[in-house]
Parts: sequence; C-alpha cells; structure tokens
Amino acid sequence: RNRKRLVDCRSDIDRWNAPFLAIYESLVPAEEEKAKQKQLLASLEKLVNKEWPRAQLYLYGSCANAFGVSNSDIDVCLAIEDTDINKSEILLKLAEILQADNLQDVQALTRARVPIVKLKDPVTGISCDICINNVLAVVNTKLLRDYAEIDGRLRELAFIVKHWAKKRGVNVTYQGTLSSYAYVLMCIHFLQQRKPAILPCLQGMEATYVVTVDDIECAYFDQVQKLREFGAKNTESIAKLVWAFFDYWAHLHDYANAVISVRTGSIISKRAKEWTRRIGNDRHLICIEDPFETSHDLGRVVDKYSINTLREEFDRAANIMQYDPDPCVTLFEPY
Ligand code: CTP
Ligand code: MG
Repeated sequence: RNRKRLVDCRSDIDRWNAPFLAIYESLVPAEEEKAKQKQLLASLEKLVNKEWPRAQLYLYGSCANAFGVSNSDIDVCLAIEDTDINKSEILLKLAEILQADNLQDVQALTRARVPIVKLKDPVTGISCDICINNVLAVVNTKLLRDYAEIDGRLRELAFIVKHWAKKRGVNVTYQGTLSSYAYVLMCIHFLQQRKPAILPCLQGMEATYVVTVDDIECAYFDQVQKLREFGAKNTESIAKLVWAFFDYWAHLHDYANAVISVRTGSIISKRAKEWTRRIGNDRHLICIEDPFETSHDLGRVVDKYSINTLREEFDRAANIMQYDPDPCVTLFEPY
C-alpha cells in the first residue's frame, strides 16, 4: 500500500460541494419523523410509569444527537432508581409489560454487552432498543448534539462519513470495525484540529453544564449558541473537508503512538494512557478516547485483521477523493 502522503488537494475539489451537500440533504430525516419518535417515547413512558412511577425515559444515540439518518432505529434509556432489583429482572418485567400492550417483536436480550429490550411499534413502524440506566450515553449524546450546533460542517461531514462507512461495511463493531459513535468523535476531533479550528474543545472551556454519572464528572461549556461564529475564520468547503478527513486517516495519523482525544481537543500519546500493551482483548490499534469514560478506547473492537480492512478503506477513500473523476459516486460504491 502507498503510505506516502498525497501532495496537495486536487485543484478542482470544489466542483463536488453541491453533489456532497445533495447526498447529505437526502440523508437528513424529515421533521415528521422526529414527531413520531417523540410520540412513541411518550406512550412508552406512560406504560413504564404504571409499573415504576418515578422512572424516566430518555432518547440517546442517533435519534437524539443530530447525526441520525432517516428511518433509523431509536435508542432509549430507562432511568430507574430501584436498586434492589437487578437489570435482568427489570428487563424481563419491561418486556412483559410491552408485550401485554401489543408492541411487536418484543425481545429481552439480558446477556448482551449492553442488555436491552427490543421492540417494534406497529403504529409508527419504528424499532426501538431500551437499555437500563445507561446515563453516560445520554450525556455523551448531549455533547455530540451540542457540537453539532456550533458549525454545520460537522453534521455534513459526519453524515457523509457514516454513509461511506455503512456502504463500505466498516461500521460493524462485532466484525472489528468502528461504531457510528466512534466515527462522529473522529469527525469532531478532525474539525478541532483544522487550522484555523472549525470546532472548539468544549471540555477545555469554563463548565456551564456539570453532572456526575457513575462517579465520572462530566463537565463542559454547553452554551453553544454563543459559539456560532467560532469556525467562521476557516472557510474550507465540505468537499475539501471530506478530502482532508480521509487524507488524515490514510496518510497522516500516527497509528503507532497517537490517541485522538475530543476531551483535550488534541492528540495525546498512547504511552501517557498506558495503551501501548495489549491487555486481554484490548489491542489499541487505532485509539479513540471516549470523552467521559477516558479509560475507554472506542478502537478496542479493532483487531489485527480488521485494522488492515479499515486502513485499506481509508486509503481507497483518500485516493478516490484525490483522483477519481466522480468521487461522489465511487466513494459510496458497495463493497
Ligand atoms: N455509545 C457509547 N459507547 C459506545 C458506543 C455507543 O456510549 N462504545 C452510545 C452513544 O451515546 C451513542 C449511542 O450509544 O450515541 C449509540 O451508538 P451508535 O449506535 O454507535 O451510534 P448512533 O449515533 O446511534 O448511530 P446509528 O445511526 O448507526 O445507529
Ligand atoms: Mg443507534
């Protein structure tokens, strides 16, 4: 494989701004879809409250973080204080309640890494996963949504990258490739590092939002409406940023030593995090620090085979963005 850095971005890159934006627009969900999701959430909450009056339901993941494409499943977190019953019992009870209310395909997956109940709402056709007390996911969802408010180019870039990852089959964690959440963090980090920066580092600023979840303090500046001009000094177009994103992961990232960190807005070293050795199944072949669970490497799912698949896909994408006569089509060709 050619590991040499491509020289300069092709001079005609801006010809593809309009086509990339059209792809982005085609992926954005319609407002009515959001309304249906809210409606489903409200009816689920009513049901749940009959059994657990003080329990609350929160949306998290792509239906709530601004990075969801249309017709995706929704992720729901049931926050419940009853600590004397365990998660499996709650999930089984929940499944029973949902089934009794004629929701379809109700299934409790109590042994999964994140135990959930799955269901499908026959009225809206929406599929839904409900987990218990995964409050950190609700908080990192807010962080992603707040970053998306600052500069529209984040949402555009992340939609294009997620779309590419799905088409190319590199968005499957059980096959050793990366989660959507990891790709969005890669996009945020990338825009923090542009010169001039397109995104700030919210966790490095005065904290206006502070919560403690599972003994982890989550604190950052969340008055993002005040940061709408932050990226204005950088006028890079979406096509240029897609080019530069893949150039970064194909040719510039130091896989041997570097950890990308949205929390610090910079690169930190694997050595500083003691992510140099393999411990158990954690190999740290591509390192993406979780913004709040900082011991958590979102690249830990990547193994010695899938790292090659991933890097070959980054190379392919970088080459297409540099040389292909029709990058908006070729980039997304199914594998
Ligand atoms: N999440 C997490 N840690 C992970 C993976 C996911 O905390 N290792 C949480 C995040 O809050 C994320 C949510 O679970 O937003 C859903 O993850 P994922 O399915 O990867 O992202 P989505 O944004 O829902 O993407 P998709 O559109 O592919 O469903
Ligand atoms: Mg999801």
